[in-house]
Amino acid sequence: MKKIIVTGGAGFIGSALVRALLVRGEDEVEVIDNLLTGCEHNLKEVASRVRLHKLDIRDAQAIAPVILGADVVYHLAAIPSVPRSIADPIPSHEINIDGTFNVFRAAAQGGVRRVVYAASSSAYGDTEVLPKTESMAPRPQSPYAVQKLVGEYYASVFHSCFGLETVALRFFNVYGPRQDPGSPYSGVLSLFMKHLLNRTTPTIFGDGEQSRDFTYVEDVAAVCVKAAVATDVAGKIYNAGNGGRFTLNFIWDVLQKMEGVHIPPVYGPPREGDVRHSMADTASAIADLGHAPQFSIEEGLRRTLDWYRTTA
Ligand SMILES: NC(=O)c1ccc[n+]([C@@H]2O[C@H](COP(=O)([O-])OP(=O)(O)OC[C@H]3O[C@@H](n4cnc5c(N)ncnc54)[C@H](O)[C@@H]3O)[C@@H](O)[C@H]2O)c1
Repeated sequence: MKKIIVTGGAGFIGSALVRALLVRGEDEVEVIDNLLTGCEHNLKEVASRVRLHKLDIRDAQAIAPVILGADVVYHLAAIPSVPRSIADPIPSHEINIDGTFNVFRAAAQGGVRRVVYAASSSAYGDTEVLPKTESMAPRPQSPYAVQKLVGEYYASVFHSCFGLETVALRFFNVYGPRQDPGSPYSGVLSLFMKHLLNRTTPTIFGDGEQSRDFTYVEDVAAVCVKAAVATDVAGKIYNAGNGGRFTLNFIWDVLQKMEGVHIPPVYGPPREGDVRHSMADTASAIADLGHAPQFSIEEGLRRTLDWYRTTA
């Protein structure tokens, strides 16, 4: 039986990936997660088929035996927040860089076939050019963006220097069920869902005309699985967005219409480190990975809203 590891598997995207792997027929998936921002509840329906190792990726000695001999490691564990990396940069640095190094090293030493690394579109920074193609020079604008970029460089170097097959996927703004709206660092769409269902006023930082390539979480899980099996992709980086972009004002309008309410947002100052526009060029991911997003923004928002409605 092949061992599959998902670091950060109790988190928002990681738990969706775990479910996708189980649906696909993997017998058992092992998760490494210290439950810093994730929770066991995210894996509740699949708990009997998931082995959760409550470990910290900063502890190289503890994670090495778990990773040893795995077929694939999906490395998603991180502190995934731009503002948090500015407000409190040390834990972000230690987890996102040192922890990532530990995962790659354990994989290289443990005979792992491939590591799929959760990189970030934040690496592009505020380049004017859209869509963002993988060949553009990175211009990280926050500690978080630097940290995720260092992870990409390590992915590439672990391939070239140590022969470990790695694929880095730059996730764009991911949304969907189980995204935690409970912290000031939460993703904007999870906060929108909370405000919509509570009938409270959201604060949009900036004028709301900033745009993002919002990607439904199941599409992200699907491209991760494809990256684990594609051929001739080792050492490479791919955008894992949808190839579209929507402004925050547009999304809030769509959500209000879905609920039949009218709640004008308030606007606050733009957030430090935020980029203005973001949209993926998906040509390489389509050609090399067979990436094929299934969810339109309306469908993704509807599913997400339904989930928040039934769990709120
Ligand atoms: N959500 C997005 O829009 C987005 C965009 C780009 C990249 N990403 C990347 O995707 C990955 C998953 O993000 P997410 O949105 O699901 O966030 P999340 O916070 O829900 O998931 C991160 C998981 O990592 C775990 N974790 C944190 N520190 C750890 C440590 N030291 N040891 C072990 N586990 C640890 C957390 O408990 C959590 O379960 C991250 O690597 C993030 O950088 C996310």
